[in-house]
Amino acid sequence: MGFSGKVAIVTGAGGGIGEGYAKALAEWGCAVAVADINEAGAQRVAEAIVAAGGKAIAVKVDVSSEDSTKAMATTVAGELGGIDYLINNAAIYGGMQLHTMMDVPYDYWKKFMSVNMDGCFLATRAVAPYMEQRGGGAIINQSSSAAWLSRAGYYGIAKLALNGITQNMAMELGPKNIRINGIAPGPTDTEATRTSTAEGLVDSIVATLALARMGQVKDMVDACRFLLSDEAGWITGQILCVDGGFIMRP
Ligand SMILES: NC(=O)c1ccc[n+]([C@@H]2O[C@H](COP(=O)([O-])OP(=O)(O)OC[C@H]3O[C@@H](n4cnc5c(N)ncnc54)[C@H](O)[C@@H]3O)[C@@H](O)[C@H]2O)c1
Repeated sequence: MGFSGKVAIVTGAGGGIGEGYAKALAEWGCAVAVADINEAGAQRVAEAIVAAGGKAIAVKVDVSSEDSTKAMATTVAGELGGIDYLINNAAIYGGMQLHTMMDVPYDYWKKFMSVNMDGCFLATRAVAPYMEQRGGGAIINQSSSAAWLSRAGYYGIAKLALNGITQNMAMELGPKNIRINGIAPGPTDTEATRTSTAEGLVDSIVATLALARMGQVKDMVDACRFLLSDEAGWITGQILCVDGGFIMRP
């Protein structure tokens, strides 16, 4: 599939779905930057990849900081020789505070949006010049079914904005041969989902799905593999729902 010798950054890769992306990219032949604000988590995943015979480095990043995303890009390009792929997976999800729109403290709203909305925008701007140097690249923004739910509060609003960023930056970066697509998972079996969603919510959603089971990290990894590959070479600005048929858009 042409992944051998490529360099990939996965943000939020210190656990959960991001860990799955990072390990899979390494198995396919990429050198992987395991980037997370959780330095210990990033280190654990990078060490596991290296122990399995892959190539990886851990990078501490706060995706809500322009300086930090720029430093991440510089470090990765310097240590791994360039950048071909970026997975904008980091978000405040596990352990997120659950407030209503009327009650969410404004400071928490701003912090949340700076990570879950601005994060993909800042990381994309930081890495795009390095992709350009390689003649192009591919980016995936991690969205969610919640983007289309009118009751998912600020979590869904941030993912809807991320979809807009995906489309707008796909238009701007297409001429540089950089493709940007989104993956919108439905309820997926991770530690964060198990600990951060209201009791019974996931079961009640899963029961309504056309394919009535929880998503697995592998479902996201398979979609990621296609969207990054040359087989998706004329696909950009799209959000692929990987959700058992939860969201069916006209
Ligand atoms: N699990 C699901 O059901 C589900 C469904 C739809 C979308 N998603 C999305 O998938 C992604 C991963 O979800 P997960 O279940 O693995 O959750 P998770 O909470 O385990 O993963 C998020 C990761 O982002 C990191 N992170 C948080 N703030 C950061 C920051 N400022 N800078 C860098 N890293 C930061 C965390 O340390 C964590 O490792 C998230 O974007 C989430 O919104 C998850």
